[in-house]
Amino acid sequence: MSYIFNIIRTGAVRTTPKNVIQQIAKNISANQAPIVIELGAGKGEITAAVINSLQSKEEFQYYAFEISKPQCNNLKNIHNRIKPICEDALKFRSFIPTNTKVDTIISSLPLSFLPKADVDQMLVDAKNCLMPGGKIVIVFTAPWLAFQLKRFLPNCTISTFLSFPPYLLLTYEKPSVS
Ligand SMILES: C[S@@+](CC[C@H](N)C(=O)[O-])C[C@H]1O[C@@H](n2cnc3c(N)ncnc32)[C@H](O)[C@@H]1O
Repeated sequence: MSYIFNIIRTGAVRTTPKNVIQQIAKNISANQAPIVIELGAGKGEITAAVINSLQSKEEFQYYAFEISKPQCNNLKNIHNRIKPICEDALKFRSFIPTNTKVDTIISSLPLSFLPKADVDQMLVDAKNCLMPGGKIVIVFTAPWLAFQLKRFLPNCTISTFLSFPPYLLLTYEKPSVS
């Protein structure tokens, strides 16, 4: 079923546009065994594109969080390396082994529908578990979220895509330790 019929639950009127997905998939690190976490994987539109970029790697780990059980269970069909986690993605840290250093965290969660304090905590957790040079990539459509996100992710860049509705894509890179 299309996302718009479940707008209250998904927070989406449509699937993320293809050009935004292509841009997201470019953010995979050069590491040969990257760890990727996706928050709000839905039907796996972003997942499939990112997995495609990971095919050349020696190995990779891919944790995909999705609150809808049927959608979550289907994610395994995209690639057998995907670990689908049918839980609240804002609490992702509790489901990842302690001390895991993550290469890329991708979110297409409907952040403006979710409790602000929980979103703030998720941003702190995301930053803390990134490895130096690791990236957080957040796709969103509510322009006012940019202020909240920039507060936690200074020096991020935000690009706008002129789709309907317009999409925004935030990219944050954790500074490398000097
Ligand atoms: C905007 S849709 C994005 C779907 C797909 N990734 C895409 O880009 O087209 C947001 C997805 O996040 C899921 N979601 C919403 N709140 C969530 C939560 N707290 N934890 C995990 N998934 C959640 C929804 O079920 C929905 O599939």
